[in-house]
Order: sequence, then C-alpha cells, then structure tokens
Amino acid sequence: MSVEAIAVKMGDLQLANPTVLASGVHGSSLSKVVEALRYGAGGAVTKSIGPLPRDGYAEPTLVEADSGMVNAAGLPNPGADRFAEELASIQGKHLPVLVSIFGGDEKEFRRVAETVEKRDFAAFELNLSCPHVKGVGTEVGHDPEEVSSVVKAVKRVSKKPVFAKLSPNTDRLVEVAQAAVDAGADGLTAINTISAFPIDVETGRQALSNGLGGLSGGAIRPVALRCVYQLRERFDVPIMGCGGVSTWEHAVQFFLAGAGAVQIGTATMTKFAIFNDINVGVISYLDRKGVKSLEELVGAAHRMGGA
Ligand SMILES: Cc1cc2nc3c(=O)[nH]c(=O)nc-3n(C[C@H](O)[C@H](O)[C@H](O)COP(=O)(O)O)c2cc1C
Repeated sequence: MSVEAIAVKMGDLQLANPTVLASGVHGSSLSKVVEALRYGAGGAVTKSIGPLPRDGYAEPTLVEADSGMVNAAGLPNPGADRFAEELASIQGKHLPVLVSIFGGDEKEFRRVAETVEKRDFAAFELNLSCPHVKGVGTEVGHDPEEVSSVVKAVKRVSKKPVFAKLSPNTDRLVEVAQAAVDAGADGLTAINTISAFPIDVETGRQALSNGLGGLSGGAIRPVALRCVYQLRERFDVPIMGCGGVSTWEHAVQFFLAGAGAVQIGTATMTKFAIFNDINVGVISYLDRKGVKSLEELVGAAHRMGGA
C-alpha cells in the first residue's frame, strides 16, 4: 500500500498525510512549525497569534500530570504585525501551515486575520478554546453568538479555509459547533485542553503561576474522542481530532470516530519525529484490514453500532 492511501482532502485543505502538529506546544517560533513538516507531518498549526504582542505568564507554566501535563503559558506571541513579517519566510512555498489566531471579539479576530491573510499559508484555525486566559479563548468560544460573529468576520476577510477549534469545557459543544458551521466554518478542530488546577504538596500552593491551566496528553484522549464522535453525528464538515495522540492506534481511534486528520501536541515534546511512525502504522493497519484508503475509515465507528 502506498502513501497516497493516507492523503487527506478536507474541503479545500489538502494534506499529504493525516498527522498535523497541534498549535502552540513548541512556542511561537515559525521554524519549529516548518520543521514538523520536514519530520513527516502532513500539516502544522502555528502558535495562536493575537492582535498585540503578549509575554505570557511567569514560570511555572507547565507541570506534569498523570498521563499528560497541565499548562498555562498565557498565549505568549509576537502579535499579528510581527508574525506577518515572519510568515514572509515561507512565501511562495505553499506549505500546509495553518495559522492559529485568537482575539477578544470579532474585531480583534478580524484584525489579526486581515494582517496575515495575504501571506502564503493553507488555512486559518480559530482558537475559540484556550481555557486559561481572561477575555479570550473559552470566554468567546462558549457563546454561540460570539462564535458566529467571529467566524463570519474572518470569512469576510479571507477565502482561506477556516477551522474552528473547540473547547471541551462546556456542555454546549454541539451548539457552539452549529454556530461555527452555520457561520461558514469549513471545518472543526476538537479539542483544546481541559480546564485544570494542579496543586503543589510541598508549597501547599497552586502549582502554576496562573493557578488555572489546561490538561493535555493521554489523559484527555477519551474526552476528545467523545467530542469528535458527537460532532461527526451532527456535522458533515471535516474534523481534526486532537487530544492525547501518541501512537498510530490512537490516530485510528480518531479516524473511526469521524476525524479526517489528527493533531498531535504533547507527545511531540518527548518525540518530535512522531509523525512518520504514526503514518507508517496507519498504512499497515489499512493494509491488514483490507481498507483501500483512509477516507473509507473516517467515521466507520458510526456505521458499526454498539459493542
Ligand atoms: C504548552 C502548550 C501550549 C499550547 N498552546 C496552544 C495555543 O497557542 N493555541 C491553541 O489553540 N492550543 C494550544 N495548546 C493546545 C494544543 O494545541 C492541543 O489542543 C492540546 O494540547 C491537546 O492535544 P495533545 O493532547 O496532543 O497535546 C497548547 C498546549 C500545550 C501543552
């Protein structure tokens, strides 16, 4: 079986394979995003970029958790103007890079989108789901009306595909997704981190400088799978599954639940060259199961019924 079997077409977004570097895990430098593509990723998402430069929070911003980690980096980023300059370095290369953007309202999202829009990248991802920064992320992304205005605002200034990245920290997941899809989102990414609050036994205090953080890694995979499954039940748009993928088996779980591709974050911190391993595993799984292309697998769990 050849690598063409795992090529992905998600609307107008085409990827050579279904493994994508998730947003933000390696900081805001564009070079790490491009490096992921060299290490075999079919796509890569940038750190979330906002309208103005932000320093992020003081250390500690990361603590280990059982089967994962909790982070509260505070969305450090160079701001839209500086990042647009950085994007000039990949101009003309037509790389499968998704630019993640955030803002406090539709005006801020539009401003960031307009600033970077002319650059050469494949799609936008809207961060509607960061759980630990006041005034942005989930504070926008849990409100279907806000989500609708944000998606419309970005669609108005760009013809590039727009993926709305959703939060699991709400019981309105489907409502929020409906608002995004109705407003013209071309795809959904599920999920961002789960709201968490680690405590240090020795100091007796909160373990992160911000207190509140976001849980990522293996611990959140069943939650992410639930979200993807629920979304696929209701929507036909492409879905990128994200949360706790570190092996090809995990990736296959997401495809079966309805994701057309998987984003990988935390696992790339210990092994950056993970994309190839996962792709090779997926190809041999398809071969073993006699499935001709990855596309046939997407959403298959919905057609199988109960255990
Ligand atoms: C250190 C760190 C920084 C992150 N920064 C962002 C970010 O800037 N924007 C975003 O949408 N998600 C961000 N995320 C969330 C990841 O993109 C991903 O949704 C989440 O970690 C779940 O995937 P994983 O379990 O494979 O890490 C970050 C996660 C981590 C661990």
